Amino acid sequence: MIFSKKNKKHEGEMPKHIGIIMDGNGRWARRRGLPRSAGHAAGAENFKRIVTFCGEIGIAYLTVYAFSTENWNRPQAEVDEIMRLMDIYLDDSYKELEGKNVVVKIIGERGMLTQKLQDKIAALEKHTSKNTGLVLNIALSYGGRQEIVHAAKECARLAAEGKISPDDIDEEMVSSHIYTAGQPDPDFIIRPSGEKRLSNFLTWQSAYSEFWFSDIMWPAFTKKHLMEAIEEYQKRNRRFGAL
Ligand code: IPE
Ligand code: IPE
Ligand code: MG
Repeated sequence: MIFSKKNKKHEGEMPKHIGIIMDGNGRWARRRGLPRSAGHAAGAENFKRIVTFCGEIGIAYLTVYAFSTENWNRPQAEVDEIMRLMDIYLDDSYKELEGKNVVVKIIGERGMLTQKLQDKIAALEKHTSKNTGLVLNIALSYGGRQEIVHAAKECARLAAEGKISPDDIDEEMVSSHIYTAGQPDPDFIIRPSGEKRLSNFLTWQSAYSEFWFSDIMWPAFTKKHLMEAIEEYQKRNRRFGAL
């Protein structure tokens, strides 16, 4: 791994913020003759391993895509199963994250979730809010466009209340009203499963992200794959439109 800073901008640096689209659970299970639900369970276990590893290697921010606004269109039984796994994770996370200094934030359209889940999310966020290590954003019922609409409404509300003029709305103001306000944009977005698209993940934040795609299904994505991806990231020359 390259740690020294080379002359090319950002070369050799660790990504501060990594985004992961945890895709391929269903296909991983199907290929093993298992129901899709087994893939979601295996994906959830892998999520825990990768979170721990990201904390160990000093990643500051990790955003994982767990469930999109579009995923509500899946069969009800599958949606229920994913929500059940989320509920279990929220219960287990107190023990799971103990001593790991992780700050948990759930980003997305919370109103779509059951009240019970919303309460558990609020409790876990409060419980981890004073931690100082890895910031873990779990995108749940999340859509990038929905997030931008949410930010636009907040800005419009401020203008309607006369607190700002419409001309005050700039990129900084929109950024301060998205779910990841105050956090750096993702440097590096990883998508396993073979699909090469964002599927409505971090639409605003990913303007200058680097991407890494792989055919590995999420439950089979290991620390080794993550290190390979980071090593490739470290060779990229990020220019941000400048020279
Ligand atoms: C990702 O795996 C998990 C969610 C989208 C909730 P998928 O369920 O999309 O798995 P594939 O893509 O069908 O294999
Ligand atoms: C994206 O995966 C959402 C998550 C991984 C949570 P999908 O499986 O829903 O995306 P598409 O349908 O392949 O674009
Ligand atoms: Mg998928």
